[in-house]
Amino acid sequence: MFSTFFSMLQNFLLLATILASLISTTTSTIDDIESNDIDHSPFESNHRWRYEFDEVRLEMVERKGNQFVVGGQPFYVNGFNTYWLMVLAVDPSTRGKVTETFEHASAVGLTVGRTWAFNDGGWRALQKSPSVYDEDVFKALDFVVSEAKAHNIRLILSLTNNWEAYGGKAQYVKWGRAAGLNLTSDDDFFIDPTVKSYYKAHVKTVLNRVNTFTNITYKDDSTIFAWELMNEPRCLADASGNNLQAWIEEMAFHVKSIDSKHLVEIGLEGFYGTSTPDRLQFNPNTFACQVGTDFIRNHQTLGIDFATAHIYPDAWISNTISDLHLQFTESWMQSHIDDAEDLLGMPVVFAEFGVSDKDKNFSVSFRDQFIDMVYKNILNSAKRGGSGAGSLLWQLFPEGTDYMDDGYAVVLTKSISTSNILSLQSRRIQMFNSKCSWRCHWGCRKKKSSVDGLFSQHNQL
Ligand SMILES: *[C@@H]1O[C@H](CO)[C@@H](O)[C@H](O)[C@H]1NC(C)=O
Ligand SMILES: *[C@@H]1O[C@H](CO)[C@@H](O)[C@H](O)[C@H]1NC(C)=O
Ligand SMILES: *[C@@H]1O[C@H](CO)[C@@H](O)[C@H](O)[C@H]1NC(C)=O
Repeated sequence: MFSTFFSMLQNFLLLATILASLISTTTSTIDDIESNDIDHSPFESNHRWRYEFDEVRLEMVERKGNQFVVGGQPFYVNGFNTYWLMVLAVDPSTRGKVTETFEHASAVGLTVGRTWAFNDGGWRALQKSPSVYDEDVFKALDFVVSEAKAHNIRLILSLTNNWEAYGGKAQYVKWGRAAGLNLTSDDDFFIDPTVKSYYKAHVKTVLNRVNTFTNITYKDDSTIFAWELMNEPRCLADASGNNLQAWIEEMAFHVKSIDSKHLVEIGLEGFYGTSTPDRLQFNPNTFACQVGTDFIRNHQTLGIDFATAHIYPDAWISNTISDLHLQFTESWMQSHIDDAEDLLGMPVVFAEFGVSDKDKNFSVSFRDQFIDMVYKNILNSAKRGGSGAGSLLWQLFPEGTDYMDDGYAVVLTKSISTSNILSLQSRRIQMFNSKCSWRCHWGCRKKKSSVDGLFSQHNQL
């Protein structure tokens, strides 16, 4: 009783202090942020500021209800993808690109990166054949994780691919065939016991890896934000979704049985499936509900800690850019944020969003408008304690890596307007994370009026 009363008193005092500082500093802080961003880009040589973190907070990320927390404080995410970090870290001549990526990310305040912790067979394979690893490539992954840590950036590590790039399910099935299995489809990846055992062994190897740079075992490393079962799983061979659902259940349990500390997510694109007929209207097209995935059902799996969705109107609707892309983005984000809150009770991260410069009618100003819309939706959710927990741009590249570009690369040093938008969002997210007290769920709701001031200017952008 006493300790409860004491901590209530402490919390009250803390809240009072925060409220007082919010009221007194909100206006000037926002002004500083605005003018700083307009006058100086983080990439102008005479003004290379760095993020000042209140404290180094590399504690393990946890989930409380529909929010992420770190050390009891809220942790909303502004982050990025760069899929190739490991493969460019293998070669000493390109290893510096990994460091540059983290430097650029850190210069605009990004705190979470998502990348591949797999390369199944083929060029610079991590896993050359089932359970046979290239130690040089594993050391390259170690380097990626240690560089992330050095830059105060956490990583979402994806464990294999739905697509053929870097191996993925097709490679696993090839390995199965080479071992004499009668496999008729790449989607046998999800059901064949031997192939599932290959994947499980890979998961176990990565999670138990001791980083050769830091000596920290991956499963104990708070640099890792979360494990992702697979990049964009789809199982067209079974439109009922049962096969993929069973695979998710089995693999989420497998990851948690090895590593109960880290968060786990699936890697889904976020299409609604047959469990929620009334939500199908939010899908980008009618094909989306036939790929064997189900945003609600899949994410209700035991062991899955947060939901993901990707945002690709240019791939899903039309490769000619138009206002429809923005309208879709708005409703796609809103429906996922609402459903993550009401039906799943978990955070949702928009783990990939981007636009290709190969699209018809592409322009940097459209890209900026698109990114800004995604960011605005995250902020609007965060300020009311909703489930929109963050977004990860697809994708951040340093200069000189164009040969890895799929059209979606954003090179911050070449796109000052875009880097300003990223930077502004980071500062708003960072302010939100630090100004909100440790129990954001009620704290932010209570402080709504003060926090609103922080964001009103954003809506005028
Ligand atoms: C392989 O499996 C398919 C479908 O399950 C079956 O039709 C076929 O007869 C099998 N082939 C062999 C050689 O067992
Ligand atoms: C890792 O462990 C080895 C062997 O115990 C030791 O020599 C090395 O200094 C350690 N490195 C770090 C970064 O702690
Ligand atoms: C593409 O851009 C051209 C020129 O700016 C414009 O006339 C056209 O309407 C645009 N197309 C679409 C589909 O927005």
